[in-house]
Amino acid sequence: MKGIILAGGSGTRLHPITRAVSKQLLPIYDKPMIYYPLSTLMLAGLREILLITTPHDQAAFQRLLGDGSHLGLELSWIIQENPNGLAEALILGEEFLAGGKCALILGDNLFYGPGLGTHLAQNTAVAGALIFAYQVSDPRAYGVVEFDDAGRVLSIEEKPAEPKSSFAVPGIYFYDERASAFARALTPSARGELEITALNNAYLERGELRVEVLSRATTWLDTGTHESLYEAGGLIRTLQHRTGMRIGDVEQIARDQGWL
Ligand code: DAU
Repeated sequence: MKGIILAGGSGTRLHPITRAVSKQLLPIYDKPMIYYPLSTLMLAGLREILLITTPHDQAAFQRLLGDGSHLGLELSWIIQENPNGLAEALILGEEFLAGGKCALILGDNLFYGPGLGTHLAQNTAVAGALIFAYQVSDPRAYGVVEFDDAGRVLSIEEKPAEPKSSFAVPGIYFYDERASAFARALTPSARGELEITALNNAYLERGELRVEVLSRATTWLDTGTHESLYEAGGLIRTLQHRTGMRIGDVEQIARDQGWL
């Protein structure tokens, strides 16, 4: 399995900060935001990773991460010309994936939790698609999963005005070999994007989508607004001070994995 980090987009909700700097390079306390999703993929054991950025931000990301060899990684780079939607990552990444499975993670999503890496690593042989669900107080800004009484998935809706549950879909997705082909068959949504929710629904319609509820011991944050950015920095600071352990430290993870 290979990894893809989608780190483009226009970051409009964070203007004026993101007029000159990519959102995913902004600091979350003591590290650039991109370190956190990168560390999640590394904990899942993935070493071949594609970074998708805007044309004007790519050089800055490359100054930060280079070819990844200092982290025991093999990084590849590709540009997304316009923010055409999350599912476009699978189309842009088709050649990189070379017919293999992939884990796609959003560059602004931050995961923290005991055993999360091991858990993700156990799922890298996915058949169909595997996505996650996480209980949040207000799911309206996310993909939302509807379950029946037996816990089966009935639907996934993107940013519903009236959510059918409080389970949001976090920005990490595991797909089998068909993801690029399914993404190519999608048509843009009303907001003009190739929606990741539409791709997940393509797997759901075939009965090949698994949704796993993340335990409450896991923390999932996205960092797309001033409030959430500030909260995420505060949380990392608090956890690191309290425990003396570092979160999202890619050098340390590379050493722990025995890759250096
Ligand atoms: O955070 C999880 C949510 O991410 C999911 O629950 C939703 O189903 C999914 O659609 C997505 O929702 P958002 O609308 O919040 O995604 P946003 O447009 O903020 O983009 C997420 C990240 O991907 C962000 O770092 C920018 C980047 N991006 C976005 C688009 C649309 C790209 O690199 N390229 C793009 O074309």
